[in-house]
Amino acid sequence: MTEKPWDGRFSEETDNAVEAFTSSIEIDRHLYQHDIDGSIAHCRMLAKAGIITQDESLTLIDGLEKIRSEITAGSFEFSDSLEDIHMHIEDRLAAHAGNISQKLHTARSRNDQVALDVRLYLRAESRKIIHGLLQLRKVLVDMAGRYIDVVIPGYTHLQRAQLVLFSHHLMAYYEMFARDSQRFADGLKRINVMPLGSAALAGTTYPIDREYTASLLDFHTVSENSLDSVSDRDFVIEFLAAASLCMVHFSRFSEELVLWSSSEFKFIELSDAFSTGSSIMPQKKNPDVPELVRGKTGRVFGSLIAILSLMKSLPLAYNRDMQEDKEPLFDAVKTLHACIDIYTRMLPNITVNKFEMGMAASKGYLNATDMADYLVCRGMPFRQAHGCVGQAVGYALGKKKELHELTLDELRSFSELIDEDIFEALTTRQMIERRQSFGGTSTKNVKAAIDRAVKRIDEEGLEVLTWQLNVLTPSCRT
Ligand code: ARG
Repeated sequence: MTEKPWDGRFSEETDNAVEAFTSSIEIDRHLYQHDIDGSIAHCRMLAKAGIITQDESLTLIDGLEKIRSEITAGSFEFSDSLEDIHMHIEDRLAAHAGNISQKLHTARSRNDQVALDVRLYLRAESRKIIHGLLQLRKVLVDMAGRYIDVVIPGYTHLQRAQLVLFSHHLMAYYEMFARDSQRFADGLKRINVMPLGSAALAGTTYPIDREYTASLLDFHTVSENSLDSVSDRDFVIEFLAAASLCMVHFSRFSEELVLWSSSEFKFIELSDAFSTGSSIMPQKKNPDVPELVRGKTGRVFGSLIAILSLMKSLPLAYNRDMQEDKEPLFDAVKTLHACIDIYTRMLPNITVNKFEMGMAASKGYLNATDMADYLVCRGMPFRQAHGCVGQAVGYALGKKKELHELTLDELRSFSELIDEDIFEALTTRQMIERRQSFGGTSTKNVKAAIDRAVKRIDEEGLEVLTWQLNVLTPSCRT
């Protein structure tokens, strides 16, 4: 049985079952780097404020760095009796710093400590996710450039609707992932707030310098209200909402890849390296990667709902319930990283079946709107043109022909306004190139959208680079 920091007030030892039940070490041990960074910044601040001496601070920091090495090397022993990562590190500090270790927890509590750790963790992970999404966006833009001459049926209600460039379809996903990046970046503003110094709930009697701690840990601001600081997990929920939305995008893309790789569509083929076979049906090649990404979406939604439910109705300030936040959060972060990574690897290895896409695009009356537009250009009101083309489609269906396969005489039987140039208006090239409204699918538009995306990726890449440099040399360690 390990001594507890609260032994003074207790006359009975903690029951083993309670130790096991309340312990979170298996989960929060993953926060050790952030916990140690936070403790080092705290030591420096305590020394600067004259609450401990410079020598004491250096002894504590030296001990904390030794613990960091022990945990990283895997030689650190974890046990349920020490509950969480904060108590493990403080307990072990005695072995390296002797009695001075007892000064580390001056002017802080585990309540503000854990809030700090989760913020440091989520700041680092959000940045990694933004970086990962940037790589994925690059892949999409590269593909959009590479397949700029490929057409695909665009769908509504999963019925062939109008022709689009395959690149336009890919760039739609680029836009979704760009918005996801923005959401994570926006969430960072609220994650990047320093809670330490709020202590248990009411602040502290020591003359601490919270701004200094914040600057050592590269935080932009210091939290305003001590009660809120120790009980706020809004930033976790916001992150999980952004992660859920990002997974919605992945699940939609996955659904399309699954459909497109089926024998019914044959639009794409996933490479062998990114597919699996069946243990019974020798002919099968299954799209397991997109299927699993689609399936993992539910896990991330689950994490969001778990933490919303966890926080709902909790009275101020810290409640032990909140210890349950880490497992769903870590799982969602791990899942999202894995999905971003596998997509970034899988997409460039997809074979695009230009011929099948083109074939599908040439059947199903995808040029019906274009025929209506043709009539409108010759003075017919749109609603009338819609009805006229509807009749032409009905007639063509009966003849088992496409609109452009009807003769001029057949077409003219629906409107005298139709001339020989109708056939040019119904070609694939015209259907694509005439859609020049901003955001439309003409090649010129899509190329311009790709150029804008490349520029944006370069700009955002520079910002990500500065984060990466900061991660290499966090100011609290220098
Ligand atoms: N392991 C705890 C958590 O993750 C740390 C805070 C504990 N605070 C307390 N008063 N027991 O929430």
